[in-house]
Amino acid sequence: AAAQKGGYDSFMAKEIHEQASAVADTLRGRLENGALQLDEMAIDPSVLRSVDKIVVVACGTAANAGAVAKYAIEHWCRIPTEVELAHEFRYRDPVVTEKTLVVAISQSGETMDTLMAVRHAREQGAKVIAICNTHGSTIPRESDAALYLHVGPEIAVASTKAYLGQITACYLLGLFLAQVRGNLYPDEIAALMADLEKIPEQIQQVLDNAGQVEQLAKDMKDTSSVLFLGRHVGYPTAMEGALKLKEIAYIHAEGFAAGELKHGPIALVEEGQPVFVIVPSPNGRHSLHSKVVSNIQEVRARGARTLVIAEEGDDAVVPYADEVIRIPATRTLFAALLTVIPLQIFSCELATAKGLDVDQPRNLAKSVTVE
Ligand code: G6P
Repeated sequence: AAAQKGGYDSFMAKEIHEQASAVADTLRGRLENGALQLDEMAIDPSVLRSVDKIVVVACGTAANAGAVAKYAIEHWCRIPTEVELAHEFRYRDPVVTEKTLVVAISQSGETMDTLMAVRHAREQGAKVIAICNTHGSTIPRESDAALYLHVGPEIAVASTKAYLGQITACYLLGLFLAQVRGNLYPDEIAALMADLEKIPEQIQQVLDNAGQVEQLAKDMKDTSSVLFLGRHVGYPTAMEGALKLKEIAYIHAEGFAAGELKHGPIALVEEGQPVFVIVPSPNGRHSLHSKVVSNIQEVRARGARTLVIAEEGDDAVVPYADEVIRIPATRTLFAALLTVIPLQIFSCELATAKGLDVDQPRNLAKSVTVE
């Protein structure tokens, strides 16, 4: 087993370090003469043109990937997009019609809750596209079309490289919808794809700087609670950072939208409380960046220890950060593929430092095939 882990302490650590090639693998072969082609999906473009609503269904980490997808798809395609936990969707009488596109995200393709949501959606006449990693699994077989991650088998129970593959596949689907429906010009799609294709190299840069977060995790191994804040795609990233810490390090962790702080969670902040903050690019649209910088100030003023994930050259965060973890610059949407990596490393290292079984956390299964 040690050999299979390629010199890493765990499969999770190995899979974290495979993420540059994982994203490159999800992207490979999708461009033809400058246009996106998703032939693998085998779906009639007229179906995609008739869609008036998208519902993403998934569980666990895959649901956090879906939450990122919503930001991208609504921005690029102007199609109303909801994201829902598959088990909630299935049992609440959701509004689904022939014009609804359901996107089911599942690494294994075997999660029963997600499968039941797919069946329910198809019974109502919706078209279902599965975003999966495992070829020939049940969810893609029961869907109308499938888009695969091609990231290779994921062994660790806690999902890492599949998460990045899922987000990447969602970006491809969003851009493809925008292409088919004419929401973006071909040169806009080409420019977005060019930036997306730079991501694997940027992931490698984040991984090459893992030492800083590894040390932080070791120093924090006795921590009993960690909070994670973000806005826009930093919000699902905060949720995923908290999920990872719960799953493998058994530490109480909560992710929330930074704007929600003042509506409740800030009451949790006391002297020494560690808070990760995911900061969007200062070059992005809106005043997102300055809002998040204000949120860092707010928690720090109440004694929080601020662990800030920010773009290279973003000096505005420095006065309020106890620790700054740097990420290469990219588009606001694409940052979701970079900012989560230090959080994955943090959980993996912290669990390892605690002597826990990182790959087989207690009470969890890689794929939950019962409801
Ligand atoms: C389980 C795993 C999670 C995973 C979730 C969804 O709960 O422990 O890591 O995110 O299932 O799995 P799927 O295979 O559907 O992506």
